[in-house]
Amino acid sequence: MRPSTSCFVLCVLVVSASLVVAQDPLPALDPAAADKLSFRNDVQPILKRHCWGCHSAAKPEGGLRLDSVAAMLKGGDSGPLFEPGKPDESALVQMIIGPEPEMPKKQPPLSVAKIQILRHWILAGAKDDSPAAGSPSTIQIPETYLSPPAVTSAALSPDGKLLAAACRSEVVLIDVDAESAPRRLPTESGLLTHVEFNADGTLLAAAGGSPAQYGDVRFFNPADGTVVSGRRIGHDTLFRGNFAPDGKSIAFGGADGAIHIVPLDANAPVRSFDLHSDWILDVAYSPDGTMLISGGRDKATKISSVETGELLRSVDGSTELVSAVAADEQFAVSAGRARTLIGYELKTALSGVGVTGSGNGAQPVTNRDQYVKNFEGQPGEVLDMAFSGDRKLVAVAGDFAEVRVYQIADRQRVATISNVPAPIYSVALNADGTRLALGSKSGQVQVYRLPEGTLLKSVVPVPLAPANQTAL
Ligand code: HEC
Repeated sequence: MRPSTSCFVLCVLVVSASLVVAQDPLPALDPAAADKLSFRNDVQPILKRHCWGCHSAAKPEGGLRLDSVAAMLKGGDSGPLFEPGKPDESALVQMIIGPEPEMPKKQPPLSVAKIQILRHWILAGAKDDSPAAGSPSTIQIPETYLSPPAVTSAALSPDGKLLAAACRSEVVLIDVDAESAPRRLPTESGLLTHVEFNADGTLLAAAGGSPAQYGDVRFFNPADGTVVSGRRIGHDTLFRGNFAPDGKSIAFGGADGAIHIVPLDANAPVRSFDLHSDWILDVAYSPDGTMLISGGRDKATKISSVETGELLRSVDGSTELVSAVAADEQFAVSAGRARTLIGYELKTALSGVGVTGSGNGAQPVTNRDQYVKNFEGQPGEVLDMAFSGDRKLVAVAGDFAEVRVYQIADRQRVATISNVPAPIYSVALNADGTRLALGSKSGQVQVYRLPEGTLLKSVVPVPLAPANQTAL
């Protein structure tokens, strides 16, 4: 345990000299070096690497958060962490020095170089140069755009009449069957990565964040465009996600390799669990809401338990990045750079037991061939995939001028839309799979009727500066 605060000053004065002799002496403080330090570039990476696992919003051990300067000044259960200008009298420094430093708990001590950075930063006044400081919105939504931003995510309301397009930091709502002006909803994300309607179309989630700063999710009422709630999550961008079938929460993949389950109730805590060794690019719920399928930059497709957050099975260690995942009752599906959709038969993969075709009964599932069902190959890298609300159809799009729609039960192609403005970054289906929306890198959105593939709408959602409007 940490010595009581009252003992601190004394302890430091009396003991520090002998402590420093007992271990490698810490180099003297150098005010010139101190002035050059940045919280954002020098200090925050150390705290993130060694401390945030136990001292951030998700898990404030000892009542202490180390994820913002304000939180550090406030301190934990035992009070403030430091007084700017006085590093060696601070609880922060005391906890990380000495022959057996108390923090990081049960982990190797910080290197002298890192300790010096923390000491110097406090010496120089503990200045906060992080852009999220105090977190007023720094997001600027332009009145008009010079060129259309890529549509990074698209969603259709269950009835297919309302289209939501993620355009940089704003969501644009477009009535598919009317010529009414698009409605623009600003968010707190530097770059949006995911938009989705809940199952009855009464709520729209828009998520993303700002790289290496924060993840963010906002919930809108699509009827009137008001913000129902919103919050920042973690310290990095959120990627794609999925509403839980009961609509009470939404799960996202994170740039931190964790899945974040965000309750709609803004006062309920976010649950985060580490599952992947790299960015999780997409997460999807199983229809019964008990499991999550995830995939990402570590090329793995994983199935985990919603209740415990534990990994149930790593169903694939593909050779290529996984950019999209989905699930119906029978299959988890993943797709990505490998130019194919792969179905994983859930029951077999998770029981660990397969029934062989030869009728000899059950045998352990030792390799993926026993539960993998491939769809046909795709013409290029898959960038997005969308299930219909009834989970009968899947639409696939990517780095090629075609969107393909498959029936999940038999993996047969049921529709093809050609000559789309590739690459397509985002694709969406409505509840019964009668409408498909896509968003392109070039900033267009289109809506088609299925299965015929009739074009219903093709627009750039955002207003463009006059010169470019005529150029288009
Ligand atoms: C593995 C988890 C873990 C890690 C990593 C960790 N801590 Fe802690 N820390 C704790 C726990 C638990 C407590 C509560 C007191 C205790 O049990 O020792 C705590 C308490 C503290 C306190 C006292 C808070 C108070 O006001 O009582 C400080 C200061 C502190 N930690 C600093 C750090 C720093 C700095 C780092 C990174 C270099 C760090 N911790 C990393 C688990 C951790």
